[in-house]
Amino acid sequence: MKKIAVIGSLNMDLVITTDRLPNMGETITGKNFSQIPGGKGANQGVACGRLGGNTRFLGKVGNDSYGNTLIESLKNAGVDTNFIIQDSSETTGIAMITVCNGENMIILNPGANGKVTCEDIESNIDVLEEADILMMQLEIPFETVEYIINKYKGSKTIILDPAPFIPLEKELLKGIDYITPNEYEAGLLCNINTETEKGILEALDALKEIGVKYPIITLGSKGIAFYNGTENKIMPGFKVNAVDTTAAGDTFAGAFAVAMSKGETMENALLFAQKAAAIATTKFGAQSSIPSFEEVEKYLLQI
Ligand code: RIB
Repeated sequence: MKKIAVIGSLNMDLVITTDRLPNMGETITGKNFSQIPGGKGANQGVACGRLGGNTRFLGKVGNDSYGNTLIESLKNAGVDTNFIIQDSSETTGIAMITVCNGENMIILNPGANGKVTCEDIESNIDVLEEADILMMQLEIPFETVEYIINKYKGSKTIILDPAPFIPLEKELLKGIDYITPNEYEAGLLCNINTETEKGILEALDALKEIGVKYPIITLGSKGIAFYNGTENKIMPGFKVNAVDTTAAGDTFAGAFAVAMSKGETMENALLFAQKAAAIATTKFGAQSSIPSFEEVEKYLLQI
C-alpha cells in the first residue's frame, strides 16, 4: 500500500443549527450547539485513516484543549500524529459553522493553521519524503502549499482540494496530478460558467489544457465530472437523505486517496469516494460523519 501524507489545517468546529438564517442586525435562537473536530486537512486525514490508508498528518495547533482533542481524533482514526506541531504562542483554528436545512456556512479563524511555514515543512521533511501521495487543501498559508507542490511535482502524486478558493497560477496548477474543486470553485479557477453540463465539461478541458493531469469536479448530489486520462466522464451521485454536507468534500478526497493508495483504478477509486462522501452527508458534523471502510462496504446505496 502506498503511503499518504496529509498536510493541512485542523479546526475545532463550533456548530449551531437553525431553521433559518438571521438577517443582518437580527438575533435568532438556534436549535442546538456542538463542538466537533474538523478542519479540511484533519477531515481528509481522518477519512484516510478510518478508511484504512497508511496516513501521516503534518499541521499545527495551539497548545490548548482544542488542539489536544483534534490530535486525539486523528489518532483514533489510525493516523500518525507525531508530526503535528503544538505551538504555545498560537490558538487552535476555529470554524464557526451554521447548518441550515442541510447546507452550511463557515467562518474561519485560522489561528495556528495560518502559521504552518516552509521551515516547518523542512523540519519535518521525512513525512513528505517517505510518502507516495501528498494531499493538501488551502487552509494553511498558500506559500507553504506552493513550496510543497514546486518541490514534489513530478516525483510524488499530488492531490489538491482548492478550498477555500483563492485564484491559482497556471504554473502551479501544472504540478498537480488530481485537483478536486466543486463546480463553483472550478468555475472560478477557469473563469467559466459551470452552471450547465456544457460549462462543467469546458472547465475540465480548461484544467487539462493548463496541465492538471486528472481534473475531478465534484457536483454535490449530482455526482462528479472527471477526466480519466483518455476522456471526460460524468459519474452520477448516490441518492441519500442528506442531513449535513459538512466534510463531504474532505471525505471524498480522503477516500479517493486511500483507494488509489491500494492500487484501485481511478474510476473504482472515484466510485468508492462518492460512496464514502454520500454516507458522510447522512450524518451530522465533520469528523463525526466520516465513515469507516466497513461502513462504506456494507452501506447499500442507490444511484
Ligand atoms: O470542509 C469542512 C471543514 O471546513 C470544516 O470542518 C471546517 O473546519 C472548515 O475548515
